[in-house]
Amino acid sequence: MDIRRDPSEGEPGFDDPLALLAACHRRVERFLAAQIDITGYYGGEEMTASDSGRMRAALEYFSHAAPRHTQDEEESLFPKLQLRADANLLALAAELQAQHRQADPLHALANRATQAWLDQGTLPADQAAALLADLQALEALYASHIAREDAELFPGARACLKHVDLEIIGRELAARRGVDFDRWRATKAMLAHP
Ligand SMILES: [Fe+2]
Ligand SMILES: [Fe+2]
Repeated sequence: MDIRRDPSEGEPGFDDPLALLAACHRRVERFLAAQIDITGYYGGEEMTASDSGRMRAALEYFSHAAPRHTQDEEESLFPKLQLRADANLLALAAELQAQHRQADPLHALANRATQAWLDQGTLPADQAAALLADLQALEALYASHIAREDAELFPGARACLKHVDLEIIGRELAARRGVDFDRWRATKAMLAHP
C-alpha cells in the first residue's frame, strides 16, 4: 500500500494532496535504491528469502502504486494547473510529463526482468546487468525529476491553486485508491478531537 489509510497515522493525508505526493517520492527513492542494491549485490544469483521479499515489495510498488502517482500528477494536478498556473509553471509541467513517458518503458523492462528473476529464482547475468542499467537509468531520471517536483512544481502549485482545487485533487487521489474521502476526513476529525 502506498498511502496510509488510517488518518491517525503521521503521514500527510488526502486533505493535503501536495504533501502526500511529495511523501510518495520518498517511497519511489527507497524502493528504487533497494532494487539497485539487491540487483548489484546478487547479479541475478539466487536471493535470500529476505531480499527476495524486498524485491517483491519493490515490484509491487512499481507495478501498482507508482503508476497511480503518475496518474495523480497527470490527471488530477496538471489539469488544475492548466486553469491557474503561469506559463513557466505550465512549461515545467509539460517537461515533467515528457519525463514520465521516458520512465514508462524503463519501468516496464525493469518490472518484467524482476518478475522473471522472482519466478525463476535466478536471472542470467546479461539480463541482470540490463536490469541494473535500467534501474540506474530510472534513478538518474528521478533524481532531477523528483527534485524539480519537490522544489518547483509543488510550491508553485501551492501558490496558485485555490483551496477548492486542492480539495478536488485530494478527493481524486482518494478515489483512485478506493478510499471514501468524506469518511476518511470524518475519521480524522474524530481522532483529532476524541
Ligand atoms: Fe512526476
Ligand atoms: Fe512525482
